[in-house]
Amino acid sequence: ASVEKGNYRHYMQKEIFEQPTVVAQTLASYVHRAEETVALPQIDFDLSEVKRITIVACGTSYYAGMVAKYWFEQFARVPVDLDVASEFRYRDPVLEDGGLALFISQSGETADTLAALRHCKKEGQIIGVVVNVPTSSMAREADLLLPTHAGPEIGVASTKAFTCQLAVLAALAAHLAVKKGRMDRAEEQEVVKHLLEAPACLNAALDHDDDIASMAHLIAPARDVLYLGRGPDYPLALEGALKLKEISYIHAEGYASGEMKHGPIALIDELVPVIVLAPSGPLFEKTVSNMHEVRARGGQIVLISDRDGIVEAGEGCIATIEMPKVHPLIAPLVYAVPVQLLAYHVACVKGTDVDQPRNLAKSVTVE
Ligand code: G6P
Repeated sequence: ASVEKGNYRHYMQKEIFEQPTVVAQTLASYVHRAEETVALPQIDFDLSEVKRITIVACGTSYYAGMVAKYWFEQFARVPVDLDVASEFRYRDPVLEDGGLALFISQSGETADTLAALRHCKKEGQIIGVVVNVPTSSMAREADLLLPTHAGPEIGVASTKAFTCQLAVLAALAAHLAVKKGRMDRAEEQEVVKHLLEAPACLNAALDHDDDIASMAHLIAPARDVLYLGRGPDYPLALEGALKLKEISYIHAEGYASGEMKHGPIALIDELVPVIVLAPSGPLFEKTVSNMHEVRARGGQIVLISDRDGIVEAGEGCIATIEMPKVHPLIAPLVYAVPVQLLAYHVACVKGTDVDQPRNLAKSVTVE
């Protein structure tokens, strides 16, 4: 089926704005709305037996896996190994019996991920696949098929597939936690309730499109940009940097906020914008002190946080982007929106080809 851009300038822009709808669509097949429980496809093995999870993916899908590692370990207390597919293939990984190998892919055709899947299959792992194209090679080889319902993604830089992957992975983490006896009914309902809040929160994040568009000119002249985040929002810093690199061709790096002092701080001066992703919460204070370190070196900070965070630490930033106050579980989904929009608008300022960035392919089917 042909996909139209409608009133949007670019497919990527359209796909960013589709997120509330497609995340809701995806969640609809992973939760029982009435009972407020997680629902997974029927499978013929017992997930409570899973001893270890190996997550393998590439690019943006890999960052979804990195967020999921926090969730699987926090909720289900199942240890997680995480690899980019091109490394996994050749490092002779240890795969014990009773392991679930989880592959995350928009296309379901990425060569390195597919080869890793086949390797794990040969080694007797249970094969879980989170994939957006239901007819893809990876979908066909799955024992546990977990489709995302993002619809066709045309923009080369992945956006809506990512937030849908996160929705599925959060549901899977909760389900596993229930199976492992680590989450009772009330806690499960809590998780489901927060997941179902995600579409409205994504909409609230999208409301800041104009603010982000008008501050994009502050970032567009930069040669280097640093993104900082903590905990499950650290992978979002990596994803933010990847999005900016992909479509605006500005060099960007994502770093764990607390790791900045071990290197990137040496780069900071008034020419390097620092994008801080920091929902308010128990670790916010730590991030604030990282921000002081940046500011003391003349660094220009853009703070992406909620109202409480901005009130506490927004002063002295070159810009702030206010996100709704959200439960930590859905923060990675919601904070994906401003990093996507920022990359998008910076690319528009620079006049690059947003949907077809140079040298990149939508699906990389060679090694
Ligand atoms: C390419 C695309 C990225 C995508 C990555 C993984 O590099 O440009 O947007 O994240 O492949 O693709 P997959 O289809 O496996 O998620």
